[in-house]
Amino acid sequence: MQNFTFDNKTKIIFGKDKEQVVGEESVVYGKKLLLHYGGGSIKESGLYDTVLNSLKEQNIEVYELGGVKPNPRVSLVREGVTLCKENNIDFILAVGGGSVIDSAKAIAAGAKYDGDVWDFFTGKGAVTECLPIGVVLTIPAAGSESSAGTVITNEDGDYKRATGSLLMRPQFAILNPVLTYTLPSYQTACGVTDMMAHILERYFTNEKNVELTDRLCEATLKTIINNAHTVIEEPTNYDARAEIMWAGTIAHNDLLDTGRIGDWASHDIEHEISGIYDIAHGAGLAIIFPAWMKYVYKHDINRFVQFANRVWDVEIDLNNPEKTALAGIKKLEQFFSSIGMPVSLKEVDINDEHFTEMAKKATERWPLGNFVKLHADDVEKIYQLAR
Ligand code: NZQ
Ligand code: ZN
Repeated sequence: MQNFTFDNKTKIIFGKDKEQVVGEESVVYGKKLLLHYGGGSIKESGLYDTVLNSLKEQNIEVYELGGVKPNPRVSLVREGVTLCKENNIDFILAVGGGSVIDSAKAIAAGAKYDGDVWDFFTGKGAVTECLPIGVVLTIPAAGSESSAGTVITNEDGDYKRATGSLLMRPQFAILNPVLTYTLPSYQTACGVTDMMAHILERYFTNEKNVELTDRLCEATLKTIINNAHTVIEEPTNYDARAEIMWAGTIAHNDLLDTGRIGDWASHDIEHEISGIYDIAHGAGLAIIFPAWMKYVYKHDINRFVQFANRVWDVEIDLNNPEKTALAGIKKLEQFFSSIGMPVSLKEVDINDEHFTEMAKKATERWPLGNFVKLHADDVEKIYQLAR
């Protein structure tokens, strides 16, 4: 096991009606607040009114910036940075999903920086200061509510890039499973896929003695698998929604990282797809992850056998471990299909036109992954496998 420091400051406030305490949780950080949200789902559900009332009860002065799109754009982030600087905003409240939270994180860092916020995503600038952020989560998926990262798309060049800093980790995150009842089944499935991918990125490691985190990963994956069909078939099933919501946070709050080094190539390979084609991140991962597995499984067949056996209950064939490993990959692919996710680029009308360009862009800063290092030609082969 590797040495590690586990430092996750995000206070999780979980359960029914918990969004009503957002005012008292926010006021601790100041009286001038930027309320950041997406395309309107929070207004339709009534959450917007609940949040505003709670903030007003604490006499908080509220500035607003809505309109965050899935795959959030740097142009809106820049608008938010200007708004924060001009009005001396103390605190940013993100009400929504990963896209809103990521946009809020970038604004929070940009508000304390003299240069252009995109510098954080190219490596030109580092986050040294950041406004505090709070979250009311409406979709369990990205895990951004307690992660230290943000992913933003620059329309100029279709670059989708991630950056991270412990300073960007939200102060609190309110998770009420009832708020997820209104999610369309496709978004629910994208979220399920993304949280599974966050665990798999960590699971496929070269670290040998990590039994506890292996088993935590497997338990979290099994919980998601056990509840996924229920949340899609019965969107108002509180217990299943609660399991999925908590799993989404656990999948990405760095606990499952402890003592090991994760891979993350599949995320980078996917970001090129959603950067150019603007598809949902979870859908892109359902296509890329099985393809990545097929490309790298021979690197450590035993780990893939363990995955097949412990997560999917595939019986181990001692005479043919490769068969067991491949059966596990097949099970994952079938599961994604069963929840309505695409598992090939063809299914989302993406052809090979940009494969070479995407592979080059994905690897232009460094080779991808840690389990197996991937260069541009490897990444292109993975896009081919995903066709
Ligand atoms: O914009 P609104 O109207 O709110 O609609 C959203 C959006 O269209 C809708 N939605 C959210 N909650 C809803 C709802 N509709 C009905 N009822 C509700 N309760 O769902 C759509 C998708 O929202 P989005 O925020 O884009 O989803 P998600 O949470 O999956 O976030 C995806 C983004 O997170 C990034 C991804 O790359 C992607 O850009 N990620 C961020 C990470 C991080 N910061 O740690 C890690 C992840 O790997 C991921 O890369
Ligand atoms: Zn993800």
